[in-house]
Amino acid sequence: MKTYTLFAPAKINLFLEILGLRSDGFHELVMALHSIGLGDRLTLRANGTENLRLFCSSAELAENEDNLAYRAARLMQAQFPQAFARYGGVDIELEKNIPIAAGLAGGSADAAAVLVGLNLLWELGLTAPELQSLGAPLGSDIPFCVAGGAALATGRGEQIDPLPTLDHLWLVLGKYQSLAVSTPWAYQTYRQQFEENYLPSGAAQRKRTQEIHAGALIQGLFQRQASQVGRALYNDLEKAVLPAYPQVARLREVMSETGGLGTMMSGSGPTVFTLCETESQARELKEKIRRQIPDPDLGLWTAPLISHGIRVLA
Ligand code: C5P
Repeated sequence: MKTYTLFAPAKINLFLEILGLRSDGFHELVMALHSIGLGDRLTLRANGTENLRLFCSSAELAENEDNLAYRAARLMQAQFPQAFARYGGVDIELEKNIPIAAGLAGGSADAAAVLVGLNLLWELGLTAPELQSLGAPLGSDIPFCVAGGAALATGRGEQIDPLPTLDHLWLVLGKYQSLAVSTPWAYQTYRQQFEENYLPSGAAQRKRTQEIHAGALIQGLFQRQASQVGRALYNDLEKAVLPAYPQVARLREVMSETGGLGTMMSGSGPTVFTLCETESQARELKEKIRRQIPDPDLGLWTAPLISHGIRVLA
């Protein structure tokens, strides 16, 4: 049987606004998401046993139910028992390149790749929307990670509408390697401080969503105005994360002052990114940031924005 190797790109949030609280306890969001060229690599192959097994290159990651990629495989096994019985167990090798607990949807990207990979390996013939519906209960970012590119994400983040991509642009990403931010903690902290400003569900939230759709960031994407997009970057979760992590606030300040089109924290952080016109500008800014913050704990990467999600490499 065939072996599949897949590329699972990370995402950044160009925009994240929290509208209110939902009856399921999650937050109602409006986000603009974009895939980036920094990604994990997963290889799936039949193992001739009756087991699903996960092998991670990173010792920090669990190889069991605590790992979203493993949970995605178990979900597929439960949903398609006949395919599992027919094709048998699968080994999943995960080469981890996306920083963990970083606001880059690394876990969701891996889970999305497992859904896409098992769909191929087990010859299920599921469409992308079908895979997205299957993955949504596992994690709010999984539907976006399947399709990738750029999208407006609403609801919990699982409702996806494609947006034009800005795949000629580059990024510098910065993250302190020893720092991990819990997404539930970031949302809870935000809620403690700002719940009184939440919009009631229904008409008020729909109106705000329409305003954002007509606003500077989304219009900048449609008009391919990179500088406008850079100026309109926004993330409500910065208000919860930056005061609690002064080191990240300082990194954001340094990155912002170094130049580029705009600087923002991605998702629940603590990764900060600066949008750049070109690859050479991204490399130049990365070196400048390194000179300003020589701390070896600070990881710096450059990556392009890309126009696709999970991709089969071989
Ligand atoms: O869906 P996901 O597993 O990524 O969510 C992680 C956590 O982030 C949730 O358990 C919740 O605490 C918070 N969250 C939220 N509202 C969202 C998405 C996530 O409150 N729309």
